[in-house]
Amino acid sequence: DTTPDLKGKKVLITAGPTYEPIDPVRFIGNHSTGKMGFDIANEAAKRGAEVLLITGPTSLKTNNPAVQVKHVVSANDMYQACHEAFQTADIVIGAAAIADYRPKTIASQKIKKSDEEITIVLEKNPDILASLGAVKKQQFLVGFALETENEIEYAKGKLKKKNLDLIVLNSLNDHGAGFGKPTNKVTFIDKDFNIFPQELKSKEAVAKDIIDQIVKNYAE
Ligand code: PMT
Repeated sequence: DTTPDLKGKKVLITAGPTYEPIDPVRFIGNHSTGKMGFDIANEAAKRGAEVLLITGPTSLKTNNPAVQVKHVVSANDMYQACHEAFQTADIVIGAAAIADYRPKTIASQKIKKSDEEITIVLEKNPDILASLGAVKKQQFLVGFALETENEIEYAKGKLKKKNLDLIVLNSLNDHGAGFGKPTNKVTFIDKDFNIFPQELKSKEAVAKDIIDQIVKNYAE
């Protein structure tokens, strides 16, 4: 009894963490498992969309034939893959936790232990959603905001700065929300800064609410 309200739509979704290499054996990463993005991809496919899921390193899989999965490692890889697919996309949802910085140089050999302190210099990664927001035409662009303080204010700032149509805020202050867990608690903020707080739910149920909210706003 699922309505195919995304039939004929191409949906691009990002998921998971990025790994930023330090040397051949080490990287800087984060706690994202990819689950939120994978659940959104499966829900979008269920609703009739043709889905491209661009994911950082994860152990998750999808067996929905309407979801094409592209695996990437670093923020730069994800940037490339997103821009390649962006032109033909109707809806883009950025659920990935992308590193804002990467090691400036990658050591070609394993860094040896010594008695000295070592310093890793970080340089900025591109902001993928902001770069898509800057060139968007027909695309409906949805971002996430993962915050630990001033949640609503920071999320509104990201919505504006990245030229998004909708932002999905989750806060690490909410029990059961964010990384790793099977649940999430989100607040939607639309382009006009209308705020829609949601209950704590399974990530599958949150994915359904996200698609419902997109369908609602997209039609307007
Ligand atoms: O994967 P799970 O374990 O299920 O966890 C889900 C989640 C917590 C990772 C997910 O719900 C979530 O919040 N994803 C976004 C995490 C994040 O990096 O948020 P941010 O506030 O730092 O970034 C804001 C938005 O800009 C995000 O849509 C992000 O994808 C995007 N971004 C960030 C940095 C960057 N360089 N480029 C980007 O496009």
